[in-house]
Amino acid sequence: MKTLILYYSESGKSEVVAKTLSSQLFGDLIRIKDLKVRKGFKSKLTSSIDAFRESKTEISPSKIDLKDYDLIYIGTPVWASKPTPAIITAIDKFDFRRKEIILFATMRISGGEKAIKRMEDKLQSRGARVTNSFIIKTQNKNTSNITGDTLDLIESLNLK
Ligand SMILES: Cc1cc2nc3c(=O)[nH]c(=O)nc-3n(C[C@H](O)[C@H](O)[C@H](O)COP(=O)(O)O)c2cc1C
Repeated sequence: MKTLILYYSESGKSEVVAKTLSSQLFGDLIRIKDLKVRKGFKSKLTSSIDAFRESKTEISPSKIDLKDYDLIYIGTPVWASKPTPAIITAIDKFDFRRKEIILFATMRISGGEKAIKRMEDKLQSRGARVTNSFIIKTQNKNTSNITGDTLDLIESLNLK
């Protein structure tokens, strides 16, 4: 069974989770980039509004061939209690039909359940099967804390 970890990460925390999953589960990694500039305080507001409205964005890569993958992890930071625009766009753009999906979200404090539910609803209406999900709180955590949390979840959710 071939595994892919597909993720977006703005400031690197979701990337720590994605890389830990990849090394533990021997999965391929694809980082989705958002081509809209999302730096600085003003951008944070715009990004929250974009996420809240589920605005689409330009992403790279714009095409991914998923046919070799049976299990796909999709990960995102939580923005305004929603998935990021890059991940909303990826879910609409790529063909997840009949794939098994495990979702993950990172957040500072709250909104993860809502973001996961939104991704789950979108994926299920597109014919994917969401079989598991998890949320990691990143506030005041460094790389090794986030790696440790991810390793604990791999163990407790029996993802290996
Ligand atoms: C635009 C924006 C909106 C955010 N909204 C939320 C939120 O609603 N709830 C929350 O707990 N954290 C929120 N955060 C914090 C991020 O979800 C959190 O820091 C996440 O772990 C960052 O992941 P990354 O480093 O992979 O980008 C927000 C961050 C940004 C930049």
